[in-house]
Amino acid sequence: MAPLSSPSPDVAPAPGVSRVADILGERLAKEDPDLGEVIVAEEEIRDKIRELGARITEDYAGRPPLLVGVLKGAFVFMSDLSRAIALPVEFDFMAVASYGSSTRTSGVVRIVKDLDTDLAGRHVLVVEDIVDSGLTLAFLLRNLAARQPASLAVCALLVKDTEVTAPELSYVGFHIPRDFVVGYGLDVAERYRNLPCIRRYNGQLP
Ligand code: IMP
Ligand code: MG
Repeated sequence: MAPLSSPSPDVAPAPGVSRVADILGERLAKEDPDLGEVIVAEEEIRDKIRELGARITEDYAGRPPLLVGVLKGAFVFMSDLSRAIALPVEFDFMAVASYGSSTRTSGVVRIVKDLDTDLAGRHVLVVEDIVDSGLTLAFLLRNLAARQPASLAVCALLVKDTEVTAPELSYVGFHIPRDFVVGYGLDVAERYRNLPCIRRYNGQLP
């Protein structure tokens, strides 16, 4: 089988950056005019995850959390974040859908896939990819709080600078501008989730 990528000598990744991932990301971006500038670089994400993981490890010492990932966007972040937490965490996933557009939340949200775990008495840490209006998360937190967890907190990789007040977020990776972004789990019509960094999306939104 032919190798996935033959490294081209003109692409020089920053020191410490995974060369294969970096080259793949660069190549995807070069071939796609809809992909704009890097908003959060791969190494910034990696450093931030290390920092968040250390904080979570300290805050949850003696009470390992149940990580609740919000599908699909959070799967990449949750995978990396969980490996930066030095506690016996458990995993569950939830999928929600918003009525209306797939790129803008209407606020009317329904559960497409529910958790397998009973939350009663559990320390629940919701892992989200991005908080925009905060409507999806507000719905989710109301729903989860009703299941009587011992504690309920949120770790969001990205928070957009929108005027709407987001629910209280215990852990935040990056505050970013209001532009639509893709990569590292975030999509447009299911594409771009495998970009190793976060980029601005310059194409038409569906
Ligand atoms: P909210 O309810 O307005 O906070 O929207 C949250 C959801 O909208 C996220 O979980 C994403 O699925 C989606 N979303 C919002 N902004 C973006 C973006 O810039 N790129 C990709 N998805 C986004
Ligand atoms: Mg999401």
